[in-house]
Amino acid sequence: MIDEILPAAVTSAESFGDEPDAWLFPEERTALGAVGEARRSEYTTVRHCARRALGELGLAPAPLVAGVRGAPRWPEGVVGSMTHCAGYRAAATAHRSDVRALGIDAEPHAPLPDGVLEYIALPQEAAEIARLARRTPQVHWDRLLFCAKEAVYKAWFPATHSWLGFDGAVIVPAPDGTLHARVLSPAPEQPVPAPQEFVGRWLVRDGLLLACAVSPPSD
Ligand SMILES: CC(C)(COP(=O)(O)OP(=O)(O)OC[C@H]1O[C@@H](n2cnc3c(N)ncnc32)[C@H](O)[C@@H]1OP(=O)(O)O)[C@@H](O)C(=O)NCCC(=O)NCCS
Repeated sequence: MIDEILPAAVTSAESFGDEPDAWLFPEERTALGAVGEARRSEYTTVRHCARRALGELGLAPAPLVAGVRGAPRWPEGVVGSMTHCAGYRAAATAHRSDVRALGIDAEPHAPLPDGVLEYIALPQEAAEIARLARRTPQVHWDRLLFCAKEAVYKAWFPATHSWLGFDGAVIVPAPDGTLHARVLSPAPEQPVPAPQEFVGRWLVRDGLLLACAVSPPSD
């Protein structure tokens, strides 16, 4: 399902439950530490997905432990992203030469809890969400905005190692399944300029909402 919203250069794998065959590298087990069964299962299954996606890029299985602020450390020359929510796990990977930054997110397709939209949406985003909800009420646009923001953060952070708050990017989802994001926060100084624009796509199916955010290498 996630492959339907990702560019051709991106490989992906997903699972709609936990996979009994999934395994962890010793360094992943150490990094995970003592956690409950649910967290162990999602962590293990999503890495199983990630190794399948890396395999499609022609890369051998590699340990995927968290680096700065929880961002996974991918093999050299690779960008990637992982997501898990109830009943769904997915990972996406690409060669950095093809995709500069990549984020994916999955959420249950349900309205956000009261008060959350006001917290995450810029005024212009809230107005657009209200307009879209009137026009296409079968989509939970508030949750879609949240999902897209998470995807943008997961693409932005590994490229910059810098925090991006919910007011740090303006996101415009469209009814045709596309989205556009523009980062408002100043990009940190770094040898390779940070991406400021992301394009993405979104999908609602079987009670799930998926979104991706991508920055092409030329941006
Ligand atoms: C980090 C965050 C994006 C995770 O999203 P989530 O919907 O809670 O959880 P998901 O299951 O979809 O994703 C979790 C995975 O994200 C990845 N992740 C965590 N921190 C990350 C970071 N700083 N950068 C990139 N990826 C990160 C990890 O792979 C993690 O899975 P793992 O712990 O098993 O390795 C979220 O908790 C967060 O901090 N959001 C605030 C920042 C934000 O969204 N800003 C909006 C900018 S417009």
